[in-house]
Amino acid sequence: MTAEKYTFPVTDGGFDAVFREYRAIFEKQLRTVCDSFCDNGAKYKALYDAASYSLEAGGKRIRPVLAFEMCRVCGGDINDAVPAAVAVEMIHTFSLIHDDLPCMDNDDMRRGRPSCHKAHGEAVALLAGDALSAYAGKYICDSDLSAEKKTAMIKELYDRTLGMIEGQTIDTDGKFDTLDGLLSMYEMKTSELLTAASVMGCIAAGADEEKISAARAYAHDVGLAFQIVDDILDVTSTVEELGKPIGSDAQQEKTTSVTLLGLDKARELAKKYTEGAENALSAFENNEFLCRLTDLLLNRKN
Ligand code: IPE
Ligand code: IPE
Ligand code: MG
Ligand code: MG
Ligand code: MG
Repeated sequence: MTAEKYTFPVTDGGFDAVFREYRAIFEKQLRTVCDSFCDNGAKYKALYDAASYSLEAGGKRIRPVLAFEMCRVCGGDINDAVPAAVAVEMIHTFSLIHDDLPCMDNDDMRRGRPSCHKAHGEAVALLAGDALSAYAGKYICDSDLSAEKKTAMIKELYDRTLGMIEGQTIDTDGKFDTLDGLLSMYEMKTSELLTAASVMGCIAAGADEEKISAARAYAHDVGLAFQIVDDILDVTSTVEELGKPIGSDAQQEKTTSVTLLGLDKARELAKKYTEGAENALSAFENNEFLCRLTDLLLNRKN
């Protein structure tokens, strides 16, 4: 399945160059995957057009980059992380398509373009999300990874996907009385898929339990910081910069870290979790790229 052979970016090009190269590898692979959707026949064109529309709209690609880089710091081969990177981005994209539906956050824009249901209709958008959730597992199964790695990746990906879906379920009424309650929902809806990406990258490299636990601790904290920053951007950013609506949380009357703490304290909390994440990275050698990425996620503008 992963016919194309890739090599890790040369790290002395600096952070931006490495990030760009990871993204380029990912986009190239994604193109071949989206092209192969049509092998399923013209009958299902509407379904796969909608899935490709959302997958190829871009986004930051944080989860694929995490899978690649965790594999690198654990001494693996990037080609073994490609199925993980593609599969986790499929699950993430499925979560975004469904998250935007009128029955959920009812958001009309995503990744700088009309959200999937606006462009393709609600029924097809719902099904495109379903298809991506199934295709992710199929993609790992069809790869040329060892049976042992496939099994470990599938288990990690779908355990974490269920966690994300359970988190989204708790979030449907959007009301939380305590910060602890809110953060435990964030651990589920956001940290879980960042954990899947990080741990699958470790599995790709055949990493030991110690590294896998460190990756879990890292992704847990980075996920909390990430969701708190997402809440902040919903209040402080612009549609142009964010590529999705602003003020969506307020419109839905959602409890967020900003409504509970105010902007300044929410920023402090995101910083605290970023520091926690960076501490967890001490388990990895050559962790400069991951440290820089973690820092950038705290200060991101979109
Ligand atoms: C958005 O995720 C949903 C959250 C978990 C906050 P991203 O901010 O990673 O979205 P993309 O992939 O860049 O579009
Ligand atoms: C979404 O949280 C997390 C998902 C699992 C999709 P949000 O609802 O805050 O994400 P955005 O702001 O729409 O990207
Ligand atoms: Mg939501
Ligand atoms: Mg949303
Ligand atoms: Mg949000």
